[in-house]
Amino acid sequence: MAKKHIAIYLTGGIALYKAASCVREFVKHGYEVRCVMTENALKFVSKLTFETLSQNPVLTDLFDRNNQNSVAHIELADWTDIALVVPATADIIAKMALGIADDAVSTSLLATAKPKYVVPAMNDKMWDNPATKRNLDLLKQDGVQVLEPEVGFLAEGYQAKGRMPEPKAIYAWITAKSSPKPSLKDKKIIVTAGGTVEEIDPVRFLGNHSTGKMGYALAAYASACGASVTLVHGPTNLHDLPGVEMVSVTSAREMFAAVKARFETADAVIMAAAVADYRPEIKADQKIKKVSGPWQLTLVRNPDILQELGQLKTHQKLVGFAAETQNLFENAKKKLQRKNLDLLAANDVSKKDIGFGSDENEVYLYFKDGKMLPLKKDSKQKIAQEIVDQLALLLKGE
Ligand code: CTP
Repeated sequence: MAKKHIAIYLTGGIALYKAASCVREFVKHGYEVRCVMTENALKFVSKLTFETLSQNPVLTDLFDRNNQNSVAHIELADWTDIALVVPATADIIAKMALGIADDAVSTSLLATAKPKYVVPAMNDKMWDNPATKRNLDLLKQDGVQVLEPEVGFLAEGYQAKGRMPEPKAIYAWITAKSSPKPSLKDKKIIVTAGGTVEEIDPVRFLGNHSTGKMGYALAAYASACGASVTLVHGPTNLHDLPGVEMVSVTSAREMFAAVKARFETADAVIMAAAVADYRPEIKADQKIKKVSGPWQLTLVRNPDILQELGQLKTHQKLVGFAAETQNLFENAKKKLQRKNLDLLAANDVSKKDIGFGSDENEVYLYFKDGKMLPLKKDSKQKIAQEIVDQLALLLKGE
């Protein structure tokens, strides 16, 4: 199969050091990569770095008579399948919005008619400036895809919005956006995410390590496929997803009520939340004072949301998750039957670097008809994509 061509445009921001890993990520996944750098980008990282990583010459100057092609920007634009600007400074965003072409980067981008992806990274004050907002709105109106920066530790030494997402997340975002997607138009999908919280008293609670990343990735991709998505989530540090109905809950019983209220009209439910199986029998109204000697907390069972939905379901497809530490195959099959599921994504949590808190996962998909599909270790976005693709087939009756 012919390699996909990605032109990566590098502009002058400190996040450029991370863009080097981004180039590697695309090369590693079989893309042909060509880089273009601004003069300011060259002050942060040398051309040699990107030439070595991309295994191709880097374009920096349209008037360099050593260029192999006499009209280098047009030749590059014609070669391109996907154009990625990373990191995108406020300057290149403004130039792209206004159609300014005054160097190799802006001129080649203006000549490119193929899908463009922009990953802004800058100081929070520049990000918040109305001019930047206006320019980004113009880009979006022109069909350019924008990956918002994250809140994180900036080069200036404080926490704020402006940090470039990690290269793996950028790769996953582009592949999710650029690969053919199933159509989930007119489908209503409920996704649950994060861990539930069971209160002991006004200051204490029982919780778990779930971050919600898997559920958010599922909801984002289902929504990108055209589904009308409701994300019922426990407390997380993640941003609300644009275009998705966000329903924030705390306890398992609240989550159950929120899902049940929407279940009848839903086409599918994906239960990615880590729901607490137990809650304290009594929630104390006042803070519990310590006592000398041991203290006992009585727990009672929470509803098993998925199992209850399995009893209630008429036409809905149900997708569950299972975290196992042993006998993955046997336990997954039993859970699939017991909860009356259509699809179960099981992972072996005894393995390192996957599951809770991690950006990656490795799951086995078990189907009602006995079929099993192993998904190799990949980003949660990619795993989410595969799960929703399989769900789309089930919804089509395939
Ligand atoms: N789940 C649920 N309600 C609960 C507990 C879990 O809906 N009270 C859902 C989870 O969202 C997940 C699946 O059920 O989709 C997990 O099933 P569960 O039986 O809890 O499996 P494990 O968490 O793997 O635990 P166990 O080993 O106890 O079966």
